[in-house]
Amino acid sequence: MTQSPEHHAGHQVSSGQYSWSGRKVLVTGGAGFVGSYLVEDLLVQGAHVRVVDDLSGGSEENLRAVRGNIEFIRADLRSAEATDRATQGMDVVLHLAARAFGMLYSMEHNPEMLRDNALMAFNVLDACLANGVERALMVSSSCVYDDDAPIPTPELPVDEGRPESVNEGYGWGKRLLEIQSRYVFEKHGLPIALVRPFNAYGDRYRWLGDASHVVPSLVKKVLDRNGPAVIWGSGQQIRDLLHARDFALGFRLAAECAVDCDPVNLAGGTTISLIDLVRKIAELRGIEVDISFDTTKAEGRARKEADLTKLREKIPSFRPTVTLEEGLRDMFDWYERNRAAGAFN
Ligand SMILES: NC(=O)c1ccc[n+]([C@@H]2O[C@H](COP(=O)([O-])OP(=O)(O)OC[C@H]3O[C@@H](n4cnc5c(N)ncnc54)[C@H](O)[C@@H]3O)[C@@H](O)[C@H]2O)c1
Repeated sequence: MTQSPEHHAGHQVSSGQYSWSGRKVLVTGGAGFVGSYLVEDLLVQGAHVRVVDDLSGGSEENLRAVRGNIEFIRADLRSAEATDRATQGMDVVLHLAARAFGMLYSMEHNPEMLRDNALMAFNVLDACLANGVERALMVSSSCVYDDDAPIPTPELPVDEGRPESVNEGYGWGKRLLEIQSRYVFEKHGLPIALVRPFNAYGDRYRWLGDASHVVPSLVKKVLDRNGPAVIWGSGQQIRDLLHARDFALGFRLAAECAVDCDPVNLAGGTTISLIDLVRKIAELRGIEVDISFDTTKAEGRARKEADLTKLREKIPSFRPTVTLEEGLRDMFDWYERNRAAGAFN
């Protein structure tokens, strides 16, 4: 099921409190997996959209359908000057740009993950203040939570414990993003929405080999039909999955009605173990699959599941629109496209 932006043009969920019409909106990381859906959604809402992205993780292909309707700046947000230039003239800044990879890469690159993610956040917040931006969204992550966080996990403070161990540098980078957002909110009164997404999946994912996230990795392993599908760890790990298109919707709604700098978990409430996910992929594809486990590889957290109480209170109009079955079928197209393009070689 590959859907065009036009297909979703009818999907006009709104909090009813904020109009995007005519607003100049900067989406950092807008060529990325989630960012490109957000750009499409904002255009439907009537916003004038500028994207800034260095294309290190995203792709211009993700913006192909909207390229004529947006302004695109290729720049590195680790540079304060480039960030400031990209922000000039904007009413709203939605900050998604990040170095975000699967846990194998993330574990081995803690210094870069902390530095780059924190630096981008500091630059974006400074640029918002310098350029009189009227509101912002800062995207954090569920990786800010400690491995021992209660399940389901409520919006715990970020000044206790350590971030998720397999994403520690990334988690610290996101914690610093949150703390600086809070300082800016308190000192300067900039309205800021702060979201903590759980696990995204979907068909715009850019394949990163061993550094890829879990859902695309498992889809590939099953569809390759190249011996057993090997799950890292026990396979009993539980993940809370939400399609990238729905993350984009949640981001936009958060920026409409939750700009009090109070972090909100964002997830779909669709939890599944990795072994059941592999079985579901095989079943939907109509193939038999043998499963094996590589317990020498990191397991990650045993269970990642969001407490969605605050999300329902603060962003009551948010409802996921893509079912897990639809989203996984999208990923079969993703697999075929990437295989044909040689991305897996
Ligand atoms: N995908 C998930 O499961 C997940 C979970 C939790 C949080 N998040 C957060 O959601 C946001 C979007 O994630 P995504 O999955 O779309 O990731 P992504 O990697 O697809 O998108 C991030 C974008 O940022 C761009 N970027 C990276 N470094 C940059 C730099 N220095 N200058 C300019 N652009 C740069 C990349 O090119 C990419 O297009 C990120 O902030 C991420 O940390 C994602």
